[in-house]
Amino acid sequence: MKPLHEPLSRPPASLSPQSGERAARGVVIAIDGASASGKSTNAKIVAKALGFIHVDTGAMYRTLAWHCLKQGVDVHDAEAVSALCARWNATLECAGHTVHLLVDGYHPAREIRSVQVSEATPLVAAAPKVREWMKEKQRQCIQFGNMVMEGRDIGTHVFPGARFKFYLDASASERAKRRAAEGISENIAARDERDTRRASAPLQIAPDAVVINNSHLTAAQTSALILERVRRDCQLTAENCRS
Ligand code: DC
Repeated sequence: MKPLHEPLSRPPASLSPQSGERAARGVVIAIDGASASGKSTNAKIVAKALGFIHVDTGAMYRTLAWHCLKQGVDVHDAEAVSALCARWNATLECAGHTVHLLVDGYHPAREIRSVQVSEATPLVAAAPKVREWMKEKQRQCIQFGNMVMEGRDIGTHVFPGARFKFYLDASASERAKRRAAEGISENIAARDERDTRRASAPLQIAPDAVVINNSHLTAAQTSALILERVRRDCQLTAENCRS
């Protein structure tokens, strides 16, 4: 197991809001990482253990891609996608401790996992104006309480002042194996290339993130490392961490 990298640069503190970004009313645990690095599984476990809400920002981008496809908007046309965002009265819903982006009051949970949407999502997510629009929506999620937000750019762009930042990683072969076990054949190298080379908010490790390489760890072990770090740093128990 690769050791945890440098400790968080800020001194331990009691439960206090992060500074910087406007939405500074709650605690944000940012979990970033590459495809199949275990973000979703661990974000859900950590959120449940702390009584925080969980936000999957990949699902938010997927919802936008689905909306574009449904509206006949060309997902290669950044201006057209951005124009759709501008006229979309997008609302957020927190149900069962999870936040969703809604299209006319509907959360397309199943539809956003289709192959077509998976292929369209990186295209819409590459547009700088779209990312700015999405960043606002993602910041608004704090209205629902303390949260674990997973994605690619949460610790670097969406909540650069987040109290806790984790970056999950695993070897490309291990990540490919995980995808295959889910029945998904994915070119991990191509996906990494696209995520890290994107001009706008590429996948990067925030300088103050704790990096966890979980190639040889179970989800239970990975989430335990995250929870241990969070609890140690703000001296919280699961009980008093509840929002
Ligand atoms: O995590 P996922 O596979 O559901 O993400 C879907 C796509 O959205 C993927 O191409 C990466 C992109 N994405 C992004 O650009 N920024 C985020 N914060 C989350 C996901």
